[in-house]
Amino acid sequence: MPFYELIKNRRSIRQYIDRKIEEEKINRLTAAALMSPSSKNSKPWEFIIVENRDTLVKLSESRNQGSQMLARAPLAIVVLADTAKSDVWPEDASIAALMIQLQAQDLGLGSCWVQIYQRWKDETQSSEDFIRKVLEIPEKYAVLCVISIGYSNEERLPHEPEKLANDKIHREIF
Ligand SMILES: Cc1cc2nc3c(=O)[nH]c(=O)nc-3n(C[C@H](O)[C@H](O)[C@H](O)COP(=O)(O)O)c2cc1C
Repeated sequence: MPFYELIKNRRSIRQYIDRKIEEEKINRLTAAALMSPSSKNSKPWEFIIVENRDTLVKLSESRNQGSQMLARAPLAIVVLADTAKSDVWPEDASIAALMIQLQAQDLGLGSCWVQIYQRWKDETQSSEDFIRKVLEIPEKYAVLCVISIGYSNEERLPHEPEKLANDKIHREIF
C-alpha cells in the first residue's frame, strides 16, 4: 500500500475478531521493530510477544481504563527499554512502537497503543510495576507501552487530509 494511503487509513483499533496472528506476520512485526532508528544506534529496546490468553487478560488490568482491549486481543507486543543504554530511551522506544503499528497496518492488522510509562493501575501501584511482575521483567528495564494487535472487528473512518489542523504548521517563524 502506498505510504500516504497507509497513514491515512491507520486508526487505533480496539476490537478484534477471534483469529490468531500468523507466525510470518509476527516475524514481520518484530523485524520492523528491530529496524527502528535509535539515538546513537543504541537500540535500548526489548520486546515481549504475548499470545497467552491468561497473560493478555492480566495485561488488560494494568490500567483502570485504556487497556481493556488487551483482554480480547490475539496478540500484544510489550515495548521495554534499558534506560542505562540511552538517555532518550522514551523516544527510541516510541519510534519502535510506532514502527510496529505501521507494519501492522501494512499487514492488514489493527493495533492500538496502550500507555504504561507514567500511568497507574491504582493508587498504590504503577502500571509499569504491575506489568514488570506479571512478565518477570528485570528492574533495569522501563515499560513504555503495550501494542495491542489483531484483525479488526470495527469500522473506523480514515483520516481526512482536508480536515487536518494545518494551523499547527508554521513556516520560517512560529
Ligand atoms: C503515546 C500514546 C498513548 C496512547 N495511549 C492509549 C491508551 O492507553 N489506550 C488507548 O486506548 N489508546 C491510546 N492511544 C491511542 C490514542 O487514543 C489515539 O492514537 C488517538 O485517539 C488518535 O486516534 P487514531 O490513532 O485512531 O488516529 C495512545 C496513543 C499514543 C500515541
